[in-house]
Amino acid sequence: MPWLERPLLAIVRHEYAAAMRFAEDDAAEVMPAAPSRPCQLYVHVPFCEVLCPFCSFHRVRFNASRTLRYFDALRREIGLYHAAGFRFSDIYVGGGTPTVDADELVATLDAVRATSPVRSISIETNPNHLQPETLRRYRAAGVTRLSVGVQSFDDGLLERMERRGKYGSGAQIRERLALAHGIFPTLNVDMIFNLPGQTMAMLEHDLAALLALGVDQVSFYPLMIARSARHAMQRAMGLADPRLRHPMYERILDTLLPSYRAASAWCFSRVEGMFDEYIVDQDDYVGVGSGAFSYVGGAMYSTTFSLAHYQRRIESGLSGITQRRFLGLKERMRYDFLMRLFGGELRHDYIRARYGRAFPLRMAPELAVMRMIGATRHDADAIRLTRLGMYCWMLMMAEFFNAVNGVREQMREHVRAELDAWNQEATVSVASIGRSSA
Ligand SMILES: C[S@@+](CC[C@H](N)C(=O)[O-])C[C@H]1O[C@@H](n2cnc3c(N)ncnc32)[C@H](O)[C@@H]1O
Ligand code: SF4
Repeated sequence: MPWLERPLLAIVRHEYAAAMRFAEDDAAEVMPAAPSRPCQLYVHVPFCEVLCPFCSFHRVRFNASRTLRYFDALRREIGLYHAAGFRFSDIYVGGGTPTVDADELVATLDAVRATSPVRSISIETNPNHLQPETLRRYRAAGVTRLSVGVQSFDDGLLERMERRGKYGSGAQIRERLALAHGIFPTLNVDMIFNLPGQTMAMLEHDLAALLALGVDQVSFYPLMIARSARHAMQRAMGLADPRLRHPMYERILDTLLPSYRAASAWCFSRVEGMFDEYIVDQDDYVGVGSGAFSYVGGAMYSTTFSLAHYQRRIESGLSGITQRRFLGLKERMRYDFLMRLFGGELRHDYIRARYGRAFPLRMAPELAVMRMIGATRHDADAIRLTRLGMYCWMLMMAEFFNAVNGVREQMREHVRAELDAWNQEATVSVASIGRSSA
């Protein structure tokens, strides 16, 4: 496999970086047209009590009064989409930490459910917010999947990630997860592998802890860092050994696959239903909030990363979208090829309905290479990933998200002064975390 990794990654790196080039377009008509059927809604809540050094997501330090204003703007923006004809079937609330204000989160979910035929709701949280009575409120508000960021149960690694002081030791996190188990149809745990300083033995302990807890779902991400953020991250956490990535991934598959089904190349589930944030099941999704992406009708959109600009746009009756990019036919095919196979299979009937006979012709080189190296298996009804293919897709998806993280870093750089001022203003002390009512 090592011979394959370099050329594969070089090709997709180049391609994804080109695909993520957006054009600034600060105008009202940037809002996409509503699709004919309900789609997925992604809600971004960019607040965290303390910021982790490895994280490239759009997040700032929590500030209670600004958070109230932000949630109010979110509900207004969702109202704009509703007025434009959008209806939502599935909601994913990601961050940052969406559970920093439980009342506001529940009010926002209620607002969507009042106007859309919502089937599933997934929310992200951190271990310090796992109070059973608050979790039951979320369940009553329709939440079907709770995703808890753990990363590792190893105290040394938690320390290195600057998460031990905030979210407790591995043993404390396990206790909190045990209390959360059974409240939602799906309890997911987010983990990271190939962390700086992580040995195979540490990974095996993490896997044993997960099996002992018996959580419904595990998302095991490789550490993904935007190129522009690599130096800062390495200074904070040290260097990961890339040679461990493949053996670690194999160990994860060997350990989890007997009792879990691969819902994607990095998400393992005992239950059916919604899985991770990285959408493979729905064609269109709308992202609301500051720093959210959308994919509607073959175009990608991004909202402004400036929280002040976001607030102003919403107050003047505009959506948060300030950037868009129309994807060409071949780019859309490649996007589908990546996303569908990431979920395990690319069905022929799906491809025929979308692209007619053009897909096998235009995608012939990609289809041939992946088949030749043994990454895909061509069945009568679908193309499916082999075990080697799962590793290839995990790598390609990580590259795709490195490209997304690159865009995030670039956009955040434009509003650096605002974000720095916001972070300095925030007043949450580490000691108060864990006693949060959320
Ligand atoms: C962005 S966080 C939001 C939810 C919550 N704040 C948390 O920390 O879990 C969601 C998950 O993204 C994953 N993540 C964040 N940064 C990552 C990185 N650089 N590489 C791989 N996964 C990452 C972590 O597993 C994290 O739990
Ligand atoms: S990993 Fe989660 S808690 Fe840490 S900074 Fe990122 S979003 Fe916030």
